[in-house]
Amino acid sequence: MYHFLMDINTLIINNLNHSLILFDENLTLKFLNLPAQELTGYSDRFINNISLSDFFYNNRYIDERASEVIETGEGFIDFEYKFENKNRNRRTVILEISKIADEDKFYVIVSLKDITRFKEMDNNIKNEERLNDLSRFIAEMSHEIRNPLGGVKAAASYLKRKFDQASFDLQANIKDLNNFLEIIIKEVGRINNLIEDLLSLSKKHKTSSEKVNINKIVNEIILLEQEALTNKNVEIIKEFDPSLPKIYASENALKQVFLNTLKNGIEAVKPETKGIIKIITKLDYTRNSPKFLKIEFTDNGCGISKKDIKNLFVPFFTTKEKGSGLGLAISQKIIYEHNGFINIDSVKNHGTTVTVYLPIEKRKYS
Ligand SMILES: Nc1ncnc2c1ncn2[C@@H]1O[C@H](COP(=O)(O)OP(=O)(O)OP(=O)(O)O)[C@@H](O)[C@H]1O
Ligand SMILES: [Mg+2]
Repeated sequence: MYHFLMDINTLIINNLNHSLILFDENLTLKFLNLPAQELTGYSDRFINNISLSDFFYNNRYIDERASEVIETGEGFIDFEYKFENKNRNRRTVILEISKIADEDKFYVIVSLKDITRFKEMDNNIKNEERLNDLSRFIAEMSHEIRNPLGGVKAAASYLKRKFDQASFDLQANIKDLNNFLEIIIKEVGRINNLIEDLLSLSKKHKTSSEKVNINKIVNEIILLEQEALTNKNVEIIKEFDPSLPKIYASENALKQVFLNTLKNGIEAVKPETKGIIKIITKLDYTRNSPKFLKIEFTDNGCGISKKDIKNLFVPFFTTKEKGSGLGLAISQKIIYEHNGFINIDSVKNHGTTVTVYLPIEKRKYS
C-alpha cells in the first residue's frame, strides 16, 4: 500500500502542469518534477546539492522573495513573472514560493506555472479588440463627415448647374442662391464642430494653475443656453452650495462638460410637459470629511432605456437625428482627467440625473 501511494504521488506530481521545485531549509535542491525539468532545462541527474541561488542563476528577485518567505512564513505569489531558463528561453510564469513545515524541519517550494501561451493568446485578443474598436470608430467618423459633405456637394452642384444655364438671371435667383450658400456654410460648420469634438476626445485638456469656482461656471453655461431654455420653455431650478471650495481644474474643459450635460437635458424635454432641470452643487462627504464636489443635473425629460444606458459613453452613440454622440464620451474623458467620475441614473419616460464628482484636492492636477 505504501509503495502504491508513493507511486501514485510521483505519478501525480510529474503529471501536474505546474513546475514544482523543492528545496530544504539550507536552500539546497531536493526535488524537481518533470514539468520543472522541461521548463528550467535542468535534468534531475545533474542537480546534486545545487543551491536555490545557483539553480536560478543568482536571480536576486527570487533569492530575496525566498528569504522573505522563510523569514515571515507567508507565501509569495507573482501572477506575471518573466522567467529566463537555463537555455535563455524567456517564459511568462505564475511564480509561487511557499514554506512548508515538516516536524522540526521546513522546506521551500517554488512553483512555476507557464502561462506564456495564454498571455500570447490574450495579447492577440486584445489587439483584435483594439483593431475592431478602431475600425468601428473610423467607420462612424467617416459616416459623420460624409453626411454634411453630401449636403455641401449637393448645394454646390445645384449652384453650378444654375450658373451654367445660358438664360440664368442672377437678380431673379438671388434668394434661392443665398439659401444654398447658407446650406454650404452650415454643413461646413457641422464638419468643423465634429473635428473640434474629435480633437477634444484625443487631446489632453490644458491644465490650470488657477482654482475655479464651480457655481460660477454653471451659472455661465446656463446663460449660454438661455435662448434654447426659453424656446423650449424649460425652467432651471438652482440649489447651489455657496460654501463650495474652489478647485484646481480646467475651466474651459469643465464648461464643455456642463454645457453638454445641460444641452442633453434640454434636448430630452418632452414637448407635452413643462421642462424642469434642477441643478444642485454640494459637497460629498466620506467619513465626515468632504472628498468630492458633486454637481447634479436632474431633468424630467424622456429618460433613457435600460438597453441604451450601457452605451452612453461610447463615442458616436446617439439616439438623436442630429447628434454626433460624442458629448458624453468627451465629458467622461475630461472628468477622468480631473480624477473625478460621472454617474447617470435614469428612468425611461420620467427623467435623468447626471452626477459629476470632482475631487477636492490640495495638489494641482496635471
Ligand atoms: N439627460 C438625458 N436624457 C435622456 N437621454 C440622454 C440624456 N443625456 C444623454 N442621453 C442619451 O445619451 C446619448 C448620448 O449623449 P451624448 O451627449 O454623448 O451625444 P448626443 O447628445 O446624442 O450628441 P452630441 O452631444 O454630440 O450632440 C444621447 O443621444 C441620448 O440618447
Ligand atoms: Mg449631447
